[in-house]
Amino acid sequence: MENYQKFLAEVLITQEQLKSRINELGTQISNDYKNSNGLVLICILRGGVLFLTDLMREITIPHAIEFMAVESYGAGSRESSGQVRISHDLNTDIHNMDVILVEDIIDSGHTLASVLELLSARKPKSLEVCTLLDKHERREIDVPVKYIGFTISNKFVFGYGLDLDDLYRNLPFVGVVDEEKYKNYKNN
Ligand code: IMP
Ligand code: MG
Repeated sequence: MENYQKFLAEVLITQEQLKSRINELGTQISNDYKNSNGLVLICILRGGVLFLTDLMREITIPHAIEFMAVESYGAGSRESSGQVRISHDLNTDIHNMDVILVEDIIDSGHTLASVLELLSARKPKSLEVCTLLDKHERREIDVPVKYIGFTISNKFVFGYGLDLDDLYRNLPFVGVVDEEKYKNYKNN
């Protein structure tokens, strides 16, 4: 038995569901940006990486990709403070570009709000957000999100890019953690 099975409460979104929804998002983005003169997808490291690489393969129009890493100040591993610092910045100028920020999950919305503020100061032509998962009931700050893969309830999830204490990003599905079992597993 693989060790994650010891604390997996349930598979929330299967590999097949991910594939089909990402295909729909790719089609929608390809259509919405068909007249764009410069589309760039910006991925926030590291959680969004798997989503980005699958999403871009479903987008049929030319586009560039960029990466950005941010650290939130004073945050525990499961909460964000809202204050972010860029630890890896973009390599290109996004001035006058159509930008889509690709995120793994929006929780309180603080991380996203700070990143959007940083990016909009660089005067892109347009700036939208595409998130795989949206924990809508946890939102503390209003952020405009144009593309949402799945709206999920307030449970801690892992897999498909999302980490559980830095591990398990490789799992091909999104799973829910059984916190009690995970605690026991960690203590043994
Ligand atoms: P926010 O600033 O509260 O919206 O936090 C968003 C970030 O918290 C995400 O980019 C993830 O890194 C992390 N996060 C929030 N919820 C989860 C979860 O259920 N599993 C894994 N990471 C999560
Ligand atoms: Mg993240």
